[in-house]
Amino acid sequence: MHTALYHLNTFAMNNFIYHNPTKLVFGRGQIARLPKLIPAGKRIMLTFGGGSVKRNGVYDQVVAALVGRDFVEFWGIEANPSVETLREAIALGKEQKVDFLLAIGGGSVIDGTKLIAAGLLYDGDAWDIVLKGQADKTVPLGTVLTMSATGSEMNSGSVISRQETKEKCAFYGDYPVFSILDPETLYSLPQRQIACGLSDTFVHVLEQYMTTPGQSRLMDRWAEGILHTVIEIAPKIRENQHDYAVMSEYMLGATLALNDMIRMGVTQDWATHMIGHELTALHGLTHGATLAIVINGTLRVLREQKRGKLLQYGERIWGITGGTEEERIDRTIAANEAFFRSLGLSTRLSEEGIGESTLGAGTTARRGMSTAPWPGGFSKPASDGAMSHKKIPAVGEAAGIFVGWNVYSMAKVETIVPFSSRLFGLLT
Ligand code: NZQ
Ligand code: ZN
Repeated sequence: MHTALYHLNTFAMNNFIYHNPTKLVFGRGQIARLPKLIPAGKRIMLTFGGGSVKRNGVYDQVVAALVGRDFVEFWGIEANPSVETLREAIALGKEQKVDFLLAIGGGSVIDGTKLIAAGLLYDGDAWDIVLKGQADKTVPLGTVLTMSATGSEMNSGSVISRQETKEKCAFYGDYPVFSILDPETLYSLPQRQIACGLSDTFVHVLEQYMTTPGQSRLMDRWAEGILHTVIEIAPKIRENQHDYAVMSEYMLGATLALNDMIRMGVTQDWATHMIGHELTALHGLTHGATLAIVINGTLRVLREQKRGKLLQYGERIWGITGGTEEERIDRTIAANEAFFRSLGLSTRLSEEGIGESTLGAGTTARRGMSTAPWPGGFSKPASDGAMSHKKIPAVGEAAGIFVGWNVYSMAKVETIVPFSSRLFGLLT
């Protein structure tokens, strides 16, 4: 029997609505199903990244499946898709009277295409949609996934960069109507992309799990199931990334980590992601690589607020049971960091050549957190008069700090994480 404190906490689940309309079409050879999935008579725009799909045969499969269908192509959606590129895609789509979008690529192509889907039905500038945080109307979108990490293939989120101002902001578009997940499309991924994809998957789970214990056994166990799976398959993928069974678990695991399934009725804390986006915007560091650095600092700074869940995580995921609570938490955070290092990723900013200037004038320090709020993600403000989403950047500016934040609405505690010298010291 467990005696740890976290088992004494019992809270009810929050009310929630779960509605995920994306049809998942999983397995080998499933790209051939495209003609059945896209309604007849549609004027389709295919969207792509920089060309990996031409080299690995995915493009040929898509084009073969769509013989006789009416489509145009848009190439060049870059990693961390920029509004500057997407404006061009929207202009082309409007000119061509496109009424169905098919994104073929990773999270960047899919996220970018979510903005195109909204931009096609909007008269103003696409960046307005990002800043508003929510698209009003969208053209339907399907996806063929080639990089597993973001869950974008089965969620409505999208993260768009604006190169001109070095901003990276999230908004809500619509869910894809379908997503084709063929694990063989992942065989051509560079090892580093896979490491970043596993890091992203793992941190997605942690941001929905590492809050207040005792809210839902079911959500905890689902989350822990994904964490265990990622830990088990990571070394196997490094040995052989053409192992269909292992790549299947990677692909589905990444989707389940961020398709709303593990966050029903529980609080969340997306501080690591919000800070990670700032690091990408400022330094171009790949998304999963930012998370591998920031998550460890977040856990250290928030060890009190996350105490119960850290103990549970340590015990259930890393088998850490002996010693005082403080010792167990220390060992748990060390195990967490060692996991990211085992993926081959850095866990300190200095390893990526990022120094104090990140906190300097004119960068994040002055801007505070520029990212749009993540409505489902941040839960609700703790109480009336509590800090609202909109006030957060002002706090960052006033304090001159690099701000992340999290909300524990269940526990009625709200914490602003000062990413000042304290956290920065932990990250470097
Ligand atoms: O552009 P191409 O040539 O296709 O190359 C891509 C790209 O350079 C390459 N790649 C993709 N599939 C490949 C492949 N190379 C070889 N073989 C394949 N099968 O991989 C590179 C990275 O692709 P990208 O789409 O950028 O990666 P990822 O899926 O990690 O997406 C990252 C973006 O998604 C956002 C991130 O912030 C970032 O902008 N996120 C989106 C989320 C969401 N919509 O819910 C949540 C996430 O937390 C995340 O923020
Ligand atoms: Zn992520």
